[in-house]
Amino acid sequence: MTDRTPLMAGNWKMNCNHVEAAGLVQKLDWTLKDGHYDASKSECALIVPFTDIRTVQTLVEGDKIPMAYGAQDVSLYASGAYTGEISADMLAKLKCAYVVVGHSERRDYHGETDEIINAKAKVVLAAGMIPIVCCGEKLDIRKAGEQVPFVLAQVDICLAGLTAEQVASLVIAYEPVWAIGTGEVATPEDAQEVCGAIRERVAATFGAEAADKVRIQYGGSVKANNIVDIMAKPDVDGALVGGASLNADEFAKIVMFYAV
Ligand code: 13P
Repeated sequence: MTDRTPLMAGNWKMNCNHVEAAGLVQKLDWTLKDGHYDASKSECALIVPFTDIRTVQTLVEGDKIPMAYGAQDVSLYASGAYTGEISADMLAKLKCAYVVVGHSERRDYHGETDEIINAKAKVVLAAGMIPIVCCGEKLDIRKAGEQVPFVLAQVDICLAGLTAEQVASLVIAYEPVWAIGTGEVATPEDAQEVCGAIRERVAATFGAEAADKVRIQYGGSVKANNIVDIMAKPDVDGALVGGASLNADEFAKIVMFYAV
């Protein structure tokens, strides 16, 4: 089996202006250094507002901070009359490693469909960045026990038309919507059930090698006090962390889950 390096990604959502971003990156850097963070055991990434990216880039490059960074969304279009949009090339030029596509908040508040998310994943890959493709069920689906077929149907459309190599390189984030920002965390078994099913579906559609390499994250009320048990599950390769990533001490503990 491939040794998949876990990806601990902090999704800041619409928090932190660029001045606050600088402070948070520096504090996180000191805290990780203090804890003798080992980047070979877990990769740390910050998914920040567009207006913070240049600031984060300057700090990461200038201070040689072992962190990747990326954006929370991208335009479908390459350039032109799309007021308010940010293109994949603009993000690649800022050396973004990752772009989140299809977060449930984009699905809910901006009407993004699986088809749009599929197109965005392709745009991100074409620009040489790694999409973090989000999926996850709402509470009614979970209560009906339909979470696995529901999420697999999302994954089928979101990854449609990609090559096995592209799928091997990307990240899928399973974020049950009922667990996002609610303090209601899925049990490690809940996370494993769906992440394991996603990997099986990737194997069936794209082959064993893609399934072995693709990283599958869990997201939804991840905290320092629940990450260790979640990461113990074989098909969970990291976490997409919202609220807890805004606190350097808390997020550093999550990034260094392996040290507990
Ligand atoms: P919380 O960790 O705040 O529940 O958010 C999860 C999330 O949506 C990360 O993308």
